[in-house]
Amino acid sequence: MKVLVIGGGGREHAIVHALSKSSKVTEIYAAPGNAGISKLAMCVNIKDTDVSNLVAFAKDEKIDLVVVGPEAALAVGVVDEMQKAGIPAFGPTKAAAQIESSKNFAKDLMSKYNIPTARYEVFKDYESAISFVKISPFPTVIKYDGLAAGKGVVIAENYEEAEAALKDMLLDDKYGKGKVVIEEYLEGPEFSFMCFVDGENVYPLQLAQDHKRAYDGDKGPNTGGMGAYSPLPFITEKDYNEALNQIMIPTAKAMVNEGNPFKGVLYGGLMKTKKGIKVIEFNARFGDPETEVVLPRLTSDIYDAFMAIVNGTEPKLVWDNKCTIGIVMASKGYPGDYKKGFIIENATSDNIYHMGTKFDDNGNYLTNGGRVLFVVASADTLEEANKKANALVDEIKCENLYHRTDIGAKAYKKF
Ligand code: AMP
Ligand code: GLY
Repeated sequence: MKVLVIGGGGREHAIVHALSKSSKVTEIYAAPGNAGISKLAMCVNIKDTDVSNLVAFAKDEKIDLVVVGPEAALAVGVVDEMQKAGIPAFGPTKAAAQIESSKNFAKDLMSKYNIPTARYEVFKDYESAISFVKISPFPTVIKYDGLAAGKGVVIAENYEEAEAALKDMLLDDKYGKGKVVIEEYLEGPEFSFMCFVDGENVYPLQLAQDHKRAYDGDKGPNTGGMGAYSPLPFITEKDYNEALNQIMIPTAKAMVNEGNPFKGVLYGGLMKTKKGIKVIEFNARFGDPETEVVLPRLTSDIYDAFMAIVNGTEPKLVWDNKCTIGIVMASKGYPGDYKKGFIIENATSDNIYHMGTKFDDNGNYLTNGGRVLFVVASADTLEEANKKANALVDEIKCENLYHRTDIGAKAYKKF
């Protein structure tokens, strides 16, 4: 079977790696892919949002299955167009992907179906948003209603910060013309619950936790994620059942009821608060970097699982009992400004997923993004996996990368 994976980051590298283990898959293509992915897949230089060229490529190559990684590709309707062309595609339609691409859509859905989440109000004009924050308690959370590459959420500690965020989003249209959601600030550990969803049917993947802050001890600026681990000892069986039965299953059912059945990976960004599990956000795709620690634990065939969802049958998902930890190696300066083009040595091993790399003319890997590599280790305990992952990171030579050393430590260390 021939599979096309759309995207070119660590998540797509992990998906390609999992597909490469399937006995049914003979050829893998990635669009656009990256230098690391090119060891396992043929990279084709088509942008992830260039729908017409992606469809033309899939038709020409007689692709048997398309797997979509990034939200931007879903939001422009790549799955809808593949389906129209008769090409099986794993991922939600544009309409169903609104659960991620519009915070307003997601919040209204949760409100209508009593799915637990922070209280909220939606505003499209600056004056009424400002009047609302004048009477709001702080911190308060301000979210741009649209895709903003993970940058559209501001936790305002005071009125001045809220005013600045609203000015950016509603007066200066920093992310484009749009609305904002202002919501109640919640507290508690966050976790990522990804499920394969086919209409009302929900098939959970293993839980993972991302680390959003740049530096050890959860210090420094927010990033796209600096590391992840799986499983999660702080989630009890009761928490798990609550998340599945009061959030993930009702959300899948709500989408069907609204005439927007979801197919693909529904990602619940959840928080364990003192008042129960609540939704922080939904994504319509595999999480990055959570996927890079969850898929290595899958021992059954991922191609079969994708096809089962596409065809409306039950996927078989079998997991190992290992603990996986992955550490992001990011360009110095990230999430702010950073330079690219530094040579990376020793980054070929099987447990390194490339997030942002390219080749130079001599075949060396070069840094080519904010987040560059994701180094994964697996062991019987999280503590051992952390030690192993850090040792692997230390073998990689590059003068412009930094990383956290404490990924997963919250789960086994008392601070
Ligand atoms: P989002 O893009 O909605 O996931 O928001 C990014 C991050 O902002 C989340 O991972 C949380 O850490 C934080 N956040 C979002 N909404 C809230 C909230 N209502 N209360 C507290 N923190 C939040
Ligand atoms: N790790 C968070 C995300 O994929 O959006």
